[in-house]
Amino acid sequence: MFKKCKFGISNLQPLHMNYPYQIKSLEQYHAAYKKSIDTPELFWNEIAETFIWQKKWDKTLDWNFKDPKVEWFKGGKLNITENCLDRHLEKNGNTPAIIWEPNDPLEHHRIITYKQLHLKVCQFAQVLINNGVQKGDRVCVYMGMIPELAIAILACARIGAIHSVIFGGFSAQSISDRLEDAKAEFIITCDGAYRGAKDIPLKAVIDDALIGNKTVKKVIVCTRTRTAVSMIKGRDVWWEDEIKKVESQGLELVTAVSMDAEDPLFILYTSGSTGKPKGVVHSTAGYMVYTNYTFVNVFQYQPNDIFFCTADIGWITGHSYIVYGPLSAGGTSLMFEGIPTFPDAGRFWDIIDKFKVNILYTAPTAIRSLMGFGLGPVKDHDLSSLKVLGTVGEPINEEAWHWYDENIGKKKCPIVDTWWQTETGGVMISNMAGITPGKPGWATYPMPGVKAILVDDKGNEITEKEDGLYRGNLCITQPWPATLRTTYGDHERCRTNYFATYENLYFTGDGALKNEDGQFRITGRVDDVLNVSGHRIGTAEVENAINMHAGVVESAVVGYPHDIKGQGIYAYVIYTGSHGQDTHGTGDMVRKDILQTVTRIIGPIAKPDKIQFVSGLPKTRSGKIMRRILRKVAEGETSNLGDTSTLLDPGVVDEIVKGML
Ligand code: WTA
Repeated sequence: MFKKCKFGISNLQPLHMNYPYQIKSLEQYHAAYKKSIDTPELFWNEIAETFIWQKKWDKTLDWNFKDPKVEWFKGGKLNITENCLDRHLEKNGNTPAIIWEPNDPLEHHRIITYKQLHLKVCQFAQVLINNGVQKGDRVCVYMGMIPELAIAILACARIGAIHSVIFGGFSAQSISDRLEDAKAEFIITCDGAYRGAKDIPLKAVIDDALIGNKTVKKVIVCTRTRTAVSMIKGRDVWWEDEIKKVESQGLELVTAVSMDAEDPLFILYTSGSTGKPKGVVHSTAGYMVYTNYTFVNVFQYQPNDIFFCTADIGWITGHSYIVYGPLSAGGTSLMFEGIPTFPDAGRFWDIIDKFKVNILYTAPTAIRSLMGFGLGPVKDHDLSSLKVLGTVGEPINEEAWHWYDENIGKKKCPIVDTWWQTETGGVMISNMAGITPGKPGWATYPMPGVKAILVDDKGNEITEKEDGLYRGNLCITQPWPATLRTTYGDHERCRTNYFATYENLYFTGDGALKNEDGQFRITGRVDDVLNVSGHRIGTAEVENAINMHAGVVESAVVGYPHDIKGQGIYAYVIYTGSHGQDTHGTGDMVRKDILQTVTRIIGPIAKPDKIQFVSGLPKTRSGKIMRRILRKVAEGETSNLGDTSTLLDPGVVDEIVKGML
């Protein structure tokens, strides 16, 4: 255990802000929903008017899903940081914007008010300008969870540079691919990051990623772990030195660059069912309006609430609900550097008591992993400040839902089960805390502005129930303000991935159930995308990495149910190499080599949990791998494997079943 430090915010100022568009009752939800679907332009106009614009928009919405083209608030001029920072200064300048809790509980936390954050963002924006960053440039951000990460992305937005944050768990190779795809010219990183008991050498990973890179001109390095780093003359500069220069120059605060509503705000890479990760592009105005609206409504944020989203800013959840949603609402966002189990499994509960957190937003994987420690780590905690709980990233099983409800929320906190995606920018289907009813395992109702339907494989809407429920592929019929605009550098890929499967529909890649009341339950991906601990990983991506290993002829990767991670990664590998085969023939050494290869190519998050060596894969005569069979075996099913008569060599199935792990 560790010593608890006192948290006092008495000298800080309470938040003065109201949200005229906050829904307060079930009736209001239904009315807002109807208005948003019948007259979306009118509906979103009223909400958008509550923001600060440098120039009002000319046209609220222009769209077709064929190209696809989605434009919101066209002609409007704004800067998102004026909405996240400047507009709060007068009344809420001394309100805490970010409360930061370090990895090590013995290190002191930091509280950054809106006034302080504004100053820091402006100073760092000047650092970017001094280093040659211009509007439209792509800036890759590879940092740990320290306030400077939020400052870095806001500073990019301040000057109109496009940030592309890469999660700290990705390898040098992954970063290199993303740098190349985004043609990034600038990198902001740290010497290292603390994560639980580990120090991660971020700058060294960046150095590896830059071998052979031709586009990156400058690397700005923020000090966190003060591990030894190699600083290359002319390319690498220290964040702190650059800030000192700005201070000594006595420069005026950087004014916010005027952006078009549709100018890109950021790129965030995410995995799909094919090929390499795609750079999902979000716009400035639509994204701002939608993340703010969903933040205020889903969580029912009230002035002065302390909102704790445990995600990493390397993922969309951190972008939308640690940075842009809470800050645009003038809220207080708690940012945590560490992990739920360090130094012990009571870490989240300590943080909640220390700061009197009101809203906790986390992933089912974290809940399941903490459940595994029993009630010991929870029991000496008060947790009475909590009002609302939330989950995101993967389906929540009912057992975890009830544990969360009983032991953390003490049965008095609504749990919002928020379904959404990197591509949707903000929450799409979720109950609204205390306003619309929740249901264990169900995301329930779509947000205003979101028209969700279930279709069959041909794209026809499902009209017949099966066992009392509609079931099908989840699609959205019309744009919402935070619709992804494109995939960076390849608009056709955006079309084929999301808008071409079914005519005039955005296809989510998820399967879902719907009940008579119009509530949805998301059942999981129906494409070749895995969801491991709430992280999206494409099976093709993992297969490509495994296949890079010398001696591997071919591989097939599928997901299987995993008690904690939700899904685990099961790899079937044809290996003909001899090097390193251990004398007992278990292949353990080769397995380790393969894991090492995946770690190098993608990152540790994509390491298979199980590797089974096989002599062949079940393929149809046309050469297509029958993943259905592989999935069943990975799930532990040995009979009822379905029709195997169309296989080229049905014999491999017996071998696979015998060798099942
Ligand atoms: C899954 C995370 C069930 C889903 C915000 C989706 C969920 C993918 C839920 C997107 C939920 C997200 N219930 N499944 N509440 N939330 N998912 O892009 O399969 O990292 O397509 O965005 O996570 O993952 P992404």
